[in-house]
Amino acid sequence: MATDNNRFQAIISHCKEYGFVFPSSEIYDGLGAVYDYGQWGSELKKNIKDYWWKSMVQLNENIVGIDAAIFMHPTTWKASGHVDNFSDPMIDNKDSNKRYRVDHIIEAKADELEAAGHTDQAELLLKEMDSLLAENNFDGLKTLIENNKIVCAISGTSNWTDVRQFNLMFSTEFGAISSDDPEENKIYLRPETAQGIFVNFLNVQKTGRMKIPFGIAQIGKAFRNEIVARQFIFRMREFEQMEMQFFIRPGTQKQWYEHWKAARMEWHLSLGIAADKYRFHDHVKLAHYADAACDIEYNFPIGFKEVEGIHSRTDFDLKAHQEYSKKKMQYFDNDIDEATGKPYGNYVPYVVETSIGVDRTVMMVLSEAYEEQDLSTDEKKDSRVVLKFPVKLAPIKLAVLPLVKKDGLPDIARSIINDCKQKFRCFYEEKDTIGKRYRRMDALGTPFCVTVDYQTKEDNTVTIRYRDTMQQERVSIDQIIAIIQQEL
Ligand code: GAP
Repeated sequence: MATDNNRFQAIISHCKEYGFVFPSSEIYDGLGAVYDYGQWGSELKKNIKDYWWKSMVQLNENIVGIDAAIFMHPTTWKASGHVDNFSDPMIDNKDSNKRYRVDHIIEAKADELEAAGHTDQAELLLKEMDSLLAENNFDGLKTLIENNKIVCAISGTSNWTDVRQFNLMFSTEFGAISSDDPEENKIYLRPETAQGIFVNFLNVQKTGRMKIPFGIAQIGKAFRNEIVARQFIFRMREFEQMEMQFFIRPGTQKQWYEHWKAARMEWHLSLGIAADKYRFHDHVKLAHYADAACDIEYNFPIGFKEVEGIHSRTDFDLKAHQEYSKKKMQYFDNDIDEATGKPYGNYVPYVVETSIGVDRTVMMVLSEAYEEQDLSTDEKKDSRVVLKFPVKLAPIKLAVLPLVKKDGLPDIARSIINDCKQKFRCFYEEKDTIGKRYRRMDALGTPFCVTVDYQTKEDNTVTIRYRDTMQQERVSIDQIIAIIQQEL
């Protein structure tokens, strides 16, 4: 069985071998921290997005969805604070010329200490880092790195530059006419989807007649020029977010922050993942827009890491857009304030945000599902790799396998697929022995396989095989859809 680090590598190899995730433009040796989803990865990703959309938008009358453009007016990013503040403390190694995010190399050192059994030292190191980050104490961070003998992974030396801030936004030129001033046509690729929601706050509120409290949700691409990006789809330069901004009355932010913390944790648990695989991590150093923030962390094979952020963003964003655009970002609340007996009146709403990475969720679901099983008996050696996806997320729900490629069995299999494919994703396979085909479907995480054999011709029954238990039973063809839909 794989150790945790090996397990992570094994999952990456599995993803490539079975069509889940490929390095981007691989024929040209790939592009750092950019990945493409293959035929099964894109199905899995889509199922995750659909599940999130359903639980956030379809099941909440007071939440609506939008799909804003990636390109936004450049002033958006000035107002949001990203031009001035969206940067991370970085340090360069003078021998390898490699640049690192300071918190990442310190966290890596803490992981190393932890793995060597020095848990107290690891905790102390992280605590010191947190307080230095909170104070923006760059000299202190450099000293911490040097005192802990943190070295560059490439050069192996600790010949470090000073710690400096580095903006993570990508920029490009907008329009065909290039100006002498490169800043004039400069436009950013959005580093978060949230701003597309903020700038549409009034449009949606007015056209949708939304009453506070209400939410606007969005799924879309975001781009960040991550410096250390060697963690597969965990940290990418192009990734996808599922975000929801919940607009509320000022003064109620604590209550809604707690509400969304609980609701989002419930969503995570509904994926069938055990509670002890998750934890909340409160932010010590708050982003420029937040008055409270935490992460939901999942215990990946590479340790506990952030999957989702929940942020109480105050009225920072709407107020900033109001100031820069000179358009009023206000809401008229005609509910009666019990304290004054009068309507609450006009105000700029506060916002609680939930923000989850699609790709990190894919990685979480894959990490949770991946299992190497030893099935050896006294008679023979055997093993399988199985992806135990929740049925609702599995890329393929049903594989239909004719026992042989002749005697009319493929025709029956095709007709079963025709009956089922309107309801869920099916897959037809006739190559190889039935045992090999089962193993392949296990490796893709297909929860149900149906085998059509000679008995099917006589009594219209098939064998249905369950992925997790590998048990098989004989059922009538008419029952297949109901059995699968019950699990869905
Ligand atoms: N609007 C708030 C916001 O963007 P964030 O904590 O920076 O907050 C939210 O990002 C989520 O987006 C993270 O919890 C993570 O799941 C995902 N994410 C952020 N950077 C990422 C990256 N480079 N690669 C993959 N996912 C990323």
